[in-house]
Amino acid sequence: MPVEITDAEIEVVTVVKKKVGHKVPVGVRISQGKVNDFKNKWPGGEADAQVIFRALAKAEVDFIHVTEFEAWQPAFEGGQDNLIALARKYAPGIRIIGNGSLHKLERAIDALDSGADFVFLGRGALSNPDLPAIFAAKRMPREFDDAILKPIADIKASELEFQPTD
Ligand SMILES: Cc1cc2nc3c(=O)[nH]c(=O)nc-3n(C[C@H](O)[C@H](O)[C@H](O)COP(=O)(O)O)c2cc1C
Repeated sequence: MPVEITDAEIEVVTVVKKKVGHKVPVGVRISQGKVNDFKNKWPGGEADAQVIFRALAKAEVDFIHVTEFEAWQPAFEGGQDNLIALARKYAPGIRIIGNGSLHKLERAIDALDSGADFVFLGRGALSNPDLPAIFAAKRMPREFDDAILKPIADIKASELEFQPTD
């Protein structure tokens, strides 16, 4: 049996949208993995993805942001489609943001080809504030160094002093 989502569960979107009007896009970020279980998969596989993305489309979210560790990987064992492609398939009219290790140009293009309207970058953007220029020049982005997060994830002097190489 696929997951069930009631109208009451998605009503929060309607209520928030009503409150903010058209001033702010109201979307939902969703992933299979959890902070305490990175490898979690929706147990109903694609049938669950269908229910979840259709429910978000019905709620008229302005965007769906899907995140996986590697966004291009098939979302479910035995399947072909990644989570971006499934979001596009089951929420065809909604803007899709794809996220998950997309800081190499070919991976970002894969995400767009899968149906993403936008690519969201976390670590890649932190280590490459000049990533658009790196992509344009077809250079390899810098590897992410988690020293940037230590001792706490504040903005470091080195980030403020950053000068693009070109
Ligand atoms: C320093 C840091 C802080 C993050 N904080 C959050 C957070 O508060 N909430 C959240 O949902 N994801 C958080 N993430 C996860 C990112 O939003 C993103 O999904 C993840 O880094 C994968 O994208 P990437 O491969 O482009 O880095 C954080 C990631 C990093 C590196």
